[in-house]
Amino acid sequence: MTLPGVRIAGTGSAVPERRLTNADLEAIVDTSDEWIRKRTGIVERRIIDPSKGEGQLSLATDALRAALDDANMVGADLDLIINASVTTEMTCPSNAHRIAATLDAQPAGAFDMQAACSGFVYAINLADSLVRSGRHKAIGVIGCDVMSSVVDYTDRGVSILFGDAAGACVLVPDENPDRGCIHQVIEGDGRGWEALYMPRREEDVVEGATGENIRLGCLRMDGRGVFRFAVTKFQQVIELALEQTGLSVDDVAQFVCHQSNVRIIESAKAKLGLPDDKVYINIDHYGNSSAGSVGLCFDQLRKAGKIVDGDIVVLVAFGGGMTWASSVWRV
Ligand code: COA
Repeated sequence: MTLPGVRIAGTGSAVPERRLTNADLEAIVDTSDEWIRKRTGIVERRIIDPSKGEGQLSLATDALRAALDDANMVGADLDLIINASVTTEMTCPSNAHRIAATLDAQPAGAFDMQAACSGFVYAINLADSLVRSGRHKAIGVIGCDVMSSVVDYTDRGVSILFGDAAGACVLVPDENPDRGCIHQVIEGDGRGWEALYMPRREEDVVEGATGENIRLGCLRMDGRGVFRFAVTKFQQVIELALEQTGLSVDDVAQFVCHQSNVRIIESAKAKLGLPDDKVYINIDHYGNSSAGSVGLCFDQLRKAGKIVDGDIVVLVAFGGGMTWASSVWRV
């Protein structure tokens, strides 16, 4: 039996209007615009305004609605929604179900998935497999994080990096079996989880921090440790993707990389000889939006005509867990 191919029928994204600039952060913590630009490449990030009712739910819904519009589809056409996020409002019900309700997608199945910054790539890989298997006919995939809800703005090692954003796509079967995801990795190493985590209770705090500087519910990060992990992993994951597909850098239209820190992306570019025009960077204006970043980049590239039907595109992400994932697409 030949399995169907998979087509990205539409993409969408959403970011809040409110901007948090480096100058704004200078007024909150001991940092400087120069340090942030030099060490991270970030100039500003978007963050939600909770007083306007904005949150993970609204941002994720907006992104999926835009992807459905782009695909000329409506919520009722979907039979599954996967919402990758570590910042949903509630754990029960899932935000995916509330998104389904808002978009009138019933009786679509829906669930939230937690894979931190790797979330969108984990989710698109899973959705590709479900469509290809014939079990699902139209899946809405969302990566969305509202990191401003879990950032301790007194912690300068964390507050400078993160922003809020959502990216989404709709996957449907395609009669061309060669279309869709042609290589994927969903992996992790839970032994390293302490480098990036959000403690709910005092006893979750592992690295001997004292009571005063622990903000429960907020992200704790070993920046240098994550940096070392990310630099190595980024390179390995891209090398493996090229090796296993037999593709060269020339064959790939775009490497869509998680926007973690511009120095991490630049390091992978230099080691692998990736040209500037094939590695999109938007961290300068959006910061690291965790699960939102790869979907946001993908949508922006597609809308700018830099990803078109038939292109080979490599998606790569890594994050808390520790997790990492890649996805090579014939779009
Ligand atoms: N402003 C000014 N100075 C700062 C600062 C800030 N916001 N944050 C740290 N510093 C200082 C440190 O105190 C340290 O000073 P010292 O040398 O006097 O001790 C110096 O800058 C270097 O600190 P370090 O933590 O080594 O900086 P860094 O170059 O590693 O940059 C991160 C810090 C967080 C930007 C960087 O480690 C990073 O991006 N890590 C990866 C994080 C990531 O990707 N997380 C998400 C995973 S998906």
